[in-house]
Order: sequence, then structure tokens, then C-alpha cells
Amino acid sequence: MRRILLWMARNRFLKRTLPRLWFVRRATRRFMPGETMEAALDAAEAFRPHGMGVLFTRLGENLTDLSEAQAVADHYHDLMRKIAARGMDAEISVKPTQLGLDLDREAALEHLRGLATHAAEMNGTLRIDMEGSAYTDPTLDLYRSLKQTHPNAGICLQAYLRRTPADVESLLPLHPSIRLVKGAYDEPKEIAYRRKSEVDAAYHALCVQMLPYAARGELRLGLGTHDTQLIERVAESARGAGFTTDATEVEMLYGIRHGEQLRLAKEGYRVLTLIAYGEAWYPWYMRRLAERPANVLFALRQIFG
Ligand code: FDA
Repeated sequence: MRRILLWMARNRFLKRTLPRLWFVRRATRRFMPGETMEAALDAAEAFRPHGMGVLFTRLGENLTDLSEAQAVADHYHDLMRKIAARGMDAEISVKPTQLGLDLDREAALEHLRGLATHAAEMNGTLRIDMEGSAYTDPTLDLYRSLKQTHPNAGICLQAYLRRTPADVESLLPLHPSIRLVKGAYDEPKEIAYRRKSEVDAAYHALCVQMLPYAARGELRLGLGTHDTQLIERVAESARGAGFTTDATEVEMLYGIRHGEQLRLAKEGYRVLTLIAYGEAWYPWYMRRLAERPANVLFALRQIFG
């Protein structure tokens, strides 16, 4: 089921057709509050009373024209001005291919620099998402270049990739900000763990690798997962090694395990909710369904009322 859904996420015909159907659009509301920036900003207000932060991402990937990248960057600058005007505890998270990485690496880097400068003026971090494995090296390369001029840049790494421990090792001297996720794409077994138990073990091992650096303030570690058992295991390992978990934060997606997000925030974790919005939601939404096939039943119930 996971593989079929991930195939559907990439299928061009379905990508063109399904989002046009209003009842399919209705089903997406569970994971995204709306398609507009204002809908996302309004939804974020609900997290403020709980002391939770927010990450925003405008959906879209793999542009075909560089002028679209400029429009995306302008959109994010506008969003950051609105975040500042509302006095929100919020940052943005961007996909390199949405800023034109496929078309012109230097142009994408310039957009990242502009956004990171704006984020720094707001005392914030510019987060970079990680896409499919074809983009791992180009994205890490962009991150290294950006980090030279902008210390406030963060990157996402995927625990399911066998290469990730080595990537962490190579990034450590940069004092990086890393969001560790399990990984959302359909990757071959030669380069990625495919069984949940293996991915979970890799995730935990990566945290153990990074915790000493986080405890010394040389790394900012974001646990980008809804797997609260795993978060507890990481916390136990931290305590066992004499570290506090203050150096880590938990990042989850809007609409997923909301009760657990509130609980962790109440227990003293720094919790950030990532709110995705925008019109180009189809592949992103299909990846959310693939993560938990039970979501398909939920979506069908929404679709058929
Ligand atoms: P896992 O899939 O094991 O789920 C643990 C539990 O969480 C499940 O038992 C279920 O209860 C709940 N859950 C998880 N997913 C759910 C869903 N879709 N619907 C309902 N319940 C669900 N990936 C990537 O490749 N590049 C990226 O840049 C990012 N960025 C990112 C940011 C943030 C803040 C998060 C939380 C996640 C990402 N991801 C990502 C996605 C990530 O790789 C992964 O696919 C999902 O987080 C699902 O895996 P979990 O870690 O939640 O564990």
C-alpha cells in the first residue's frame, strides 16, 4: 500500500487530475488548514497559548521555470513580514527544488541566502527540507555553502538512508542545526532501510551519535517524528549519558498526534508544529497517506461524506 501511494504521488496524470476534484480537496483538510498563507497563519494562532512554536512550509517542488522560484522567494519574504507583524514564534522550512535547484544551483543558493538573511533579522533559523535521494548531495552541498555565510541555516536529514551517519559526521564541524526525520520517499533497499524496525534503530543510533554535540551546544537537534516511543527512548539515552533534553526539540506535522504535541509541550519539551499550505499539495498529501495506510480509510470517509 505504501509503495502504491508513493507511486501515485509521482504519477503525472493523477497529479493533474485528483487535485481538481473538490471532494479530494476536502479530504486534505486534516493535514493542512487551507491553501492560503492567511489560513496557515490563522491556524498557527491556536498553538500560541500552549507555548508551542510553528514552522511554515508552502507546498510545491520541482519547478520548471526559474521565474517561479523568484515568486516562491517573494512569497516567503512576505510570510516572514507577516510573522513579524503578528509577533509569532515561527520559522519557515523550504524545499530546494521549490527555489529552482533543478534549474540553476547558484540562483537557488542566492534565494536561500536572501531568506536566511531575513530569518536572521528575526532571530530565526531558515530550515531546509530534504527531498528524494537524487537531491541528497546537491542539498547538502547547498547547505554547506549557505552555512559559510549564514550560521542560522538548518537542514533535514533522513534516518532511513544508510549514508546518514557519515553525513552527520561530516556536518558536525559546521555546528549544524539538524532536523532528523525517518524519511518519506520510496528509496531502493541498496541505499535505504525499508523495515520500520531498521529505520527506528537507525534513528535512535543517529540521536545517540548527535546527543553529546547537542548537549555541548555544538548542534541543534530537532526530532522530526510523531513516534513518541522513540522520542522517549532518545530522552532515556540522553538521561543515561548525563545530558538533559533541553538541547533537543520535537517537531511534528499539523493534524497528526495533536494530543501528543500538547502533552509533550506541557511536559516541558520545546514543540514546533509544521503547518503546510498551498495549492500544490498533491504529492505531499499522498506521502502523508503513505505513512499510515489507515489514513486512506479516513480520506475515503471524508470523500464519500
Ligand atoms: P512513524 O511513521 O513510525 O509513525 C509513528 C506514529 O505517528 C504512527 O504510529 C502514527 O500514530 C503517527 N503517524 C505518523 N505519520 C502519520 C500520518 N501521516 N498520519 C497519521 N498518523 C501518523 N520527510 C522527508 O523525507 N523530508 C523532510 O524534509 C521531512 N520533513 C518533515 C518535517 C517534520 C516536522 C516532520 C514531523 C516530518 C517530516 N518528514 C520529512 C516526514 C518523515 O520523514 C516521516 O515520513 C513522517 O514523519 C512519518 O514518520 P514518523 O517519524 O512520524 O514515524
